[in-house]
Amino acid sequence: MKATMDKLVNLCKGRGIIFPGSEIYGGMGNTWDYGPIGVEIKNNIKRAWWKRFVQESDNSYGIDAAILMNSRVWEASGHTTSFSDPKMDCKFCKTRHRADNLIEAHSKGKVNPDTMTNEEMEAYIREHHVTCPKCGKSDFTPIRTFNLMFETSRGVTEEGQNTIYLRPETAQGEFVNFLNVQRTTRAKVPFGIGQIGKAFRNEITPGNFIFRTIEFEQMEHQWFCKKGTDSEYYNYFKKAAWDFLLDLGFDPEHLRYKDHDKLAHYAKAACDIQYLFPIGWSELNGIHNRTDYDLSRHSEFSGKNMEYTDPVTGEKYIPYVIEYSIGADRLMLAVLTEAYDEETLDNGETRVVMRFHPAVAAYKVAILPLQKNLGEKAREIYKKLAKSFMCTYDEAGSIGKRYRRQDEIGTPFCVTVDFDTANDNTVTVRDRDTMEQIRMPIDQLESYITDKIKF
Ligand code: GAP
Repeated sequence: MKATMDKLVNLCKGRGIIFPGSEIYGGMGNTWDYGPIGVEIKNNIKRAWWKRFVQESDNSYGIDAAILMNSRVWEASGHTTSFSDPKMDCKFCKTRHRADNLIEAHSKGKVNPDTMTNEEMEAYIREHHVTCPKCGKSDFTPIRTFNLMFETSRGVTEEGQNTIYLRPETAQGEFVNFLNVQRTTRAKVPFGIGQIGKAFRNEITPGNFIFRTIEFEQMEHQWFCKKGTDSEYYNYFKKAAWDFLLDLGFDPEHLRYKDHDKLAHYAKAACDIQYLFPIGWSELNGIHNRTDYDLSRHSEFSGKNMEYTDPVTGEKYIPYVIEYSIGADRLMLAVLTEAYDEETLDNGETRVVMRFHPAVAAYKVAILPLQKNLGEKAREIYKKLAKSFMCTYDEAGSIGKRYRRQDEIGTPFCVTVDFDTANDNTVTVRDRDTMEQIRMPIDQLESYITDKIKF
């Protein structure tokens, strides 16, 4: 693994992948803007996920629910009462920290704060003289809990304002639409609902680039099944989530399952898939057996019967839910980390190359005329291929420098238009990974590339 966080941040900024949010105003902590290359990569990641878990599933359906939901949703889900982080302030420099993060960092991951009460965490921090990451002193306030939901208000007059929340997860949109989807698609249990969308959490983060941000996208899939079949589907989604990562090109040595040490009171089983990020092994996605908790709570709070009626037996029951949840931005960081490579070439130069799966790469092909006077033919090829996939065109600088620029953003193929092209209608196609070049008729380019970029 050759990526460090600094190298990734610099490459992303320099190559139009990800910029610091509101940069000209000095930034805004933990917000990031995706640039022209980054938005393509992230869209491709989302497309690959949707294809795998919605399109290719014969019994899963997609939705796009509203970010703002009735506040009762968050009462039913438990977020208004218990979605909080244990935070403490450094009495010396007044910075605020998560107690669990302080313990994890101090013990280098050997102590798991998830299993500790607030009192136990405070005692650990005191007894082990855990220090403030900002000023190095060890003098903290007692733990206080802060709700992580961003509040806003809705109302016509100042007096009549109601508190509403930016959703902290997309999952609730899937639960509240369970009956709508089931009835309109005539789906039979077991079936799934998938969704990709923004979520917001007022988190304190140690600033690990896009690993943990206050605004992020989630890709969540809820599988509604009958009690008794839930363990089988839990194992199924554990494997499906793992296989998806392998198919995106992840090295299995950089992935591991991690069962949760402490289960939520309603959960029957829960595990993460962790990835070896530049910051160390950390959660990439979660798979949870949420039992019938969510639908039962929404039944209770909304007064609507959320039972499913089996069309054959007439049996009525509230289905169990197996949730698979992954952050699109967190997966983006893992994809960037996994793709980053540095190679020393024969001439002693270092080549930085992003070895993305071609389906994920922003541009599938770069069209490069060897000289500017070959531009007309090259633009013709660009226009033709751009109807099928994202292409880029570059005629500035030496061909070697142009190849390097494409390597740094992970373009899998470079098509070079040279002096023979005008005579025989062929071009060279350079492979990003092997740097080998083959000669090919122009009219075969589209099918050659289409075949290589499939996911
Ligand atoms: N509905 C379940 C749920 O939201 P979670 O473990 O809190 O579970 C699921 O979040 C996934 O969302 C995580 O595994 C991670 O990939 C991503 N995620 C959560 N919080 C995030 C944050 N602050 N920034 C970026 N991604 C985040």
